[in-house]
Amino acid sequence: MKVVLVTGAAGFIGSNAAEALLKNYPSIRVIGLDNFDPTYPVAFKRSNIGGLKKSAQFSFYEADIRDRTALRRIFKKEQPDAVLHLAAKADTRHAVVAPQEYVDTNITGTLNLLECAKEFQVKRFVFASSSSVYGNDNTAPFKEDAVTDHAISPYGASKKAGEGLAYTYHHNFGLSVVCIRIFNAYGERMRPGLVLYTWVEKILKGETIEISGKGTRRRDYTYIGDLVDALLRVLTKKNIGFLVVNIGNAGSVSLTHMLRTVERATGKKARVVSRPSHHASVERTHASIAKAKRILDWKPKTSFQDGVERFVEWYQSERGS
Ligand SMILES: NC(=O)c1ccc[n+]([C@@H]2O[C@H](COP(=O)([O-])OP(=O)(O)OC[C@H]3O[C@@H](n4cnc5c(N)ncnc54)[C@H](O)[C@@H]3O)[C@@H](O)[C@H]2O)c1
Repeated sequence: MKVVLVTGAAGFIGSNAAEALLKNYPSIRVIGLDNFDPTYPVAFKRSNIGGLKKSAQFSFYEADIRDRTALRRIFKKEQPDAVLHLAAKADTRHAVVAPQEYVDTNITGTLNLLECAKEFQVKRFVFASSSSVYGNDNTAPFKEDAVTDHAISPYGASKKAGEGLAYTYHHNFGLSVVCIRIFNAYGERMRPGLVLYTWVEKILKGETIEISGKGTRRRDYTYIGDLVDALLRVLTKKNIGFLVVNIGNAGSVSLTHMLRTVERATGKKARVVSRPSHHASVERTHASIAKAKRILDWKPKTSFQDGVERFVEWYQSERGS
C-alpha cells in the first residue's frame, strides 16, 4: 500500500481514518477527497482536515464523486492502490424525503469510483456500508448472512446497492473488495445531527432534549478509535477477494441507558421530553462480530462509558461548553 484515496475525508470517519493512516504508515501518501456537502456546517469539515493538511504526505481534492470525469483526473494523477470509500449522504431520515440525492451520491457515486478502480487497477476497495441494510426484521445479534432485503430507509437500500455493485466488480474484474457494515459510530468529530452529539450539546447548555418514544430503541455504538483500527486492518489484510463484515461493539444500548451515560459523563441532569419515533428508524441494531474477530483478529477495546467520556471531553475543548 503506497497511495490510499480516502473519499469523504473531511467527514467524521474519513478525517479520523486519514489521520490514523498517516500516523501508522508514515511512508504512504493519503489522498483526501470531499465535496464539503453542506448537510452539516462546512466549517466543521474544514476544521476536520486542518491537521491533515499540515502533513507533506497528505493531498486534498475538493471534488464530487458524482462527477466521473473529475474522479478520472484524480485517479490518473495519483494512481491510488487502495480506496477507502466513505463519501456518502448519511442521514437515514432525510433519505426518506430526498431519495434521489441518496441514489445519486451513494449509488452512482460508488459506481463511478468502482469504474475508476477498475480502470486504474486499484488493489483494494473498501466500501463503507451500514447496519441499516439489516432493516427491522432480523434477530439480534445480526450476522452478515442475515436477510438484507428489507432496509426501511432509502439510505439503507442505497448501501445494499453499493455492496451489490462492488461484488460485481470483484466477480467480473477481480477487484478485491471489503464492505464494512458500520454500526453507529461515535466519538471525536462525529456528525452534529446524531443523537449522542445533540444530547451532549443540549445537556451542557441546560436545554431540554427529546427522546424518541419510550427510550427503548437500542443501538450498537462503535467508538471511532475501534472503527478506525478495523479500517486499517481491512486495508492491509492480504488475500481478500470479497468480504462483507460487521464492525460494531457487539452490545446494544437503549436510549435511556445512553441518557444515563451522558448524564454521568457531563455531570449534569437532563431535562427530557418524549417525541414520536421516526418511521424510518430501526428498533434495534446489534452486531455479531464473530466474523471480524475470526478474519481480521479485531475486537472493540473501548467501553461505551469511556467512549462517551472521551467524546464529551473533545466536545468541550473543540465546540465549547
Ligand atoms: N457514522 C456512522 O455511524 C455510520 C454508520 C454506518 C455507515 N456509515 C458510513 O460511513 C461513511 C462516513 O460517514 P460519516 O459518519 O463520517 O459521515 P460524514 O457525513 O461526516 O462524512 C461523509 C463525507 O462525505 C462527503 N460527501 C457527501 N457527498 C459527497 C459527494 N457527492 N462527493 C464527495 N464527497 C461527498 C461529505 O461532505 C462528508 O464530509 C458514510 O459512507 C456513511 O454512510 C457511517
